[in-house]
Amino acid sequence: MPTEATRSGEFPALNAEARRIWDANAAWWDDRIGDGNDFQTVLIEPAMGRLLGDVAGQTVLDVGCGAGRFARQLAERGATVTAGDFSTAFLARARERTPAALPVTYQPLDATDPAALRALGTGGFDAVTAVMMLMDLATLAPLFQAIPALLKPGGRFVFCVSHPCFHTVNTHRFVEDILVDGRCTARAGVTVTGYLTPTAVRGEGIVGQPETQYYFDRPLSLLFDAGFRAGLTVTGLEEPAFPTVENRWRLHWPTEIPPVLAVRMGVK
Ligand SMILES: C[S@@+](CC[C@H](N)C(=O)[O-])C[C@H]1O[C@@H](n2cnc3c(N)ncnc32)[C@H](O)[C@@H]1O
Repeated sequence: MPTEATRSGEFPALNAEARRIWDANAAWWDDRIGDGNDFQTVLIEPAMGRLLGDVAGQTVLDVGCGAGRFARQLAERGATVTAGDFSTAFLARARERTPAALPVTYQPLDATDPAALRALGTGGFDAVTAVMMLMDLATLAPLFQAIPALLKPGGRFVFCVSHPCFHTVNTHRFVEDILVDGRCTARAGVTVTGYLTPTAVRGEGIVGQPETQYYFDRPLSLLFDAGFRAGLTVTGLEEPAFPTVENRWRLHWPTEIPPVLAVRMGVK
């Protein structure tokens, strides 16, 4: 029998535990990927950059900033950045990694807390970004509902997530050796064993991380509906995929299947 949470995809009761886990994993996680990996440099950052466009001279709020890798990139491209995360351990790493000359202000921010989002003011940002964090966010409604007030007129909300169809706890990658023109060739694929019912299930973001973390997997309809209910409309969308099949972190990603979904939304 589906629970209220599994119907709505909102899991507020798990937010405190999710925060504890992120604090426990932050240093290990940042040691592994803080300097960038091919998910970030080939898929995520180029797609986010294309959807955001020019940020020089603009104000940007980066929600769920982690150790601040994307916030620093925005500042290097000329933006003045406010970056928030609910993990104090990640914020400490972010401050350590950020040169004093870069205009990035880090602050504690629980993106499931409507009051904390309201405290960021009204109409202060040309853009809000959320990089690979909405599938880690226990509730979507407070953040999406806050976006219209946070943005200046004409502003945009740009986010990317693990692809809800192809990269969740209910998708399973495989690779098989097949003969193509008599040559051994790796063929990679994904099987999908669940999609429609939102789930909160623990899994590994990085193989071997100290604690498994919560993934809040929701179908596309619920993800976009969170924006539509807030009066947002989709103005851009990308599904970046790897150009070649290689063993990436023990995983083969087919060139035809995008691990990441990147979206730009604006106020109607
Ligand atoms: C996969 S990490 C991505 C971090 C960063 N955006 C990046 O791309 O490197 C997900 C981030 O979401 C943050 N997060 C999860 N739930 C949050 C919440 N309720 N409020 C604020 N941050 C949250 C975690 O602490 C973590 O830093």
